[in-house]
Amino acid sequence: MCGIVGYIGTKDSSTDFVLAGLKALEYRGYDSAGLVTIDNGRLKYLRDVGRVANLEKLVKRNGHPAVATRDNGLSGEGNFSESSGQSRTSGTAAGAAQQKIDLSAKSTGGVASSAGQQASAANVSCGIGHTRWATHGSVTEFNAHPHANSSRSIFVVCNGIIENYQDLKADLIKKGYKFKSETDTEVIPHLIDHYLKTGDGFFAAFKTAIADLRGAYAIAAVYTEEPEKIYAARLSSPIVIGVGNGEHFLASDPSALIHKTKKVIFLNDFEVAEISANKAHIESLDKTRKEITQVVELDYDHEESELGTFPHFMLKEIHEAPMTIKSAIRGRVKPDIKTIKLGGLESVKQQLTLIDRIIITACGTSYYAGLIGEYLIEEIAGIPVEVQLASEFKYRKEPLSRGTAVIAISQSGETADTVAAIKKVEDYGILKLGIVNAVGSTLTRITDAGVYCHAGPEQSVATTKAFLAQVTILTEIALHLSDGKSKLFTPLLKELTNLPDKAQKVVELAPAIEILAKKYAHYRDFLFIGRNYLYPCALEGALKLKEISYIHAEGCSAGEMKHGPLAMIDENFPTFALACDSSLLDKTMSNIEEIKARKGPIIATATVGNKKIKSIADDVIYLPKTAEQLQPILSVIAMQLFAYYIAVEKGLDVDRPRNLAKSVTVE
Ligand code: AGP
Repeated sequence: MCGIVGYIGTKDSSTDFVLAGLKALEYRGYDSAGLVTIDNGRLKYLRDVGRVANLEKLVKRNGHPAVATRDNGLSGEGNFSESSGQSRTSGTAAGAAQQKIDLSAKSTGGVASSAGQQASAANVSCGIGHTRWATHGSVTEFNAHPHANSSRSIFVVCNGIIENYQDLKADLIKKGYKFKSETDTEVIPHLIDHYLKTGDGFFAAFKTAIADLRGAYAIAAVYTEEPEKIYAARLSSPIVIGVGNGEHFLASDPSALIHKTKKVIFLNDFEVAEISANKAHIESLDKTRKEITQVVELDYDHEESELGTFPHFMLKEIHEAPMTIKSAIRGRVKPDIKTIKLGGLESVKQQLTLIDRIIITACGTSYYAGLIGEYLIEEIAGIPVEVQLASEFKYRKEPLSRGTAVIAISQSGETADTVAAIKKVEDYGILKLGIVNAVGSTLTRITDAGVYCHAGPEQSVATTKAFLAQVTILTEIALHLSDGKSKLFTPLLKELTNLPDKAQKVVELAPAIEILAKKYAHYRDFLFIGRNYLYPCALEGALKLKEISYIHAEGCSAGEMKHGPLAMIDENFPTFALACDSSLLDKTMSNIEEIKARKGPIIATATVGNKKIKSIADDVIYLPKTAEQLQPILSVIAMQLFAYYIAVEKGLDVDRPRNLAKSVTVE
């Protein structure tokens, strides 16, 4: 959560880069945004609540030319070879400050990367920016980043949480420092200000201040006395430096800078950087670490994500379902030669033959995909699987045998809890695998091997196509682990290749589902039920509805209804029942009857040809026939469309739901 960008160099305008970068990172947080730039000795400090577009308008009103916009996205590899809370003063130059500063500071520092010709402070453009997802303090301009010291010479942006900020703040207040915001971040510029008094220079003060912080953070800072440099630090939150020719870029993820350079430095935990136009000097504050991170070349291209004719990214991404499944099976699923080939797992082939237990760990939608993976791997490969929420797993003290493999599932590859879950098992010597969509993200670098989703960039905060890719890949992993011995091996290989066309048929149900959504949009509660493979799928349906429509929704195993949830059912509490053909269909039908008997309205998904369900359910969405193991993939598309159209009917901001962010990089 929260996006950070920065620029130092002679080629570009820091304002242009920062604004475009913030737009690319807006998925990380979108409640307020701000920037500070220093160009030709002129300091510009602007913040505003709301989207980056508001900040952009503020910048224009403050005399900056029109700013080009762009969208983010990427595709290609990692280890997967293949205080006060004042309300906003609003309007024009509220929160804007411009001042003329002295440009006399000298450049210092060792070299991790060095590029291009020398640049003097006078022709260097320098700036950092931030798009916020509030953790500490409400959404006000005063809580928006960057935060500054009292003399406004030190500016800091932060992504993460400073856990000991209250102690630090109390100490600083005793020393006479005054705070303007409710944020944890504001302690950092004051702390640096305090250590600057020792006279050892800004970088020394920056490092000492960083060493005082506890928590998880990515930080960028500028100092008006040294406008030819920007500074960065990382602990458990991502930050990447882009190496250009006579310029350096900074961003929370490569999508914001890959259009400028493919040479990047991913900062490691405890590393700090002093970055000028020509040098990125990096040190580790962890004295036990000998190796400093190096420049790597990204081998994928920037992938633009355009809305095209769609009104929202969510609808566009749902319509990409057939292509998503195709990309997830391409080159991997070969029914003609009865083979499944997962190139990303080749390097750990031997270790895979030795595993006797799997733990899947993930959050949110990825967790629900993991639950479907549990059913798949246990039935197809016969290996016991446990699925654990990453936020729980990382703190659990459980015995882990050497035969255990941990699989982390994540669309973003940056989710703090999932990253922490993998870090927890780093010293256990067990196999760490990933199923990740975002190429080059943290999880792809800290797992031993894995399989890319290849779903392409997702802009909508509510994930849709990544879930389809995750479940498809979990099916492939189950088949791979079964080594061809499962009786499901051949039929599922074949059916996987039929799935894109069947997904297309479900997507084409959009107009009919839109009509249904209009009928049900006024309800305040919703239940989603299913059995076996469709039970975790029901959990995902409920999550999708609540996150974008703000309707209270619960997912429940159909078999659990009479153990409690049935008490809630009346004519005002509809149920979305997942009732495709399966060995347990009769039981699910009985559960639906029980709901009907209590006057609960029912929408059901059913396999084409099921006439009986029409006499029980109020509305039926017929889905193409497919293997029971693959039904979640088709059913979820119908539920995604249903949630989407309900949110549209309610006039809500579908792609940017309140209180959420796409990449959850804090605990
Ligand atoms: C999905 O719609 C949610 N926004 C959320 O639950 C998400 O799936 C979760 O935060 C995990 O994200 P990840 O897949 O990027 O790790």
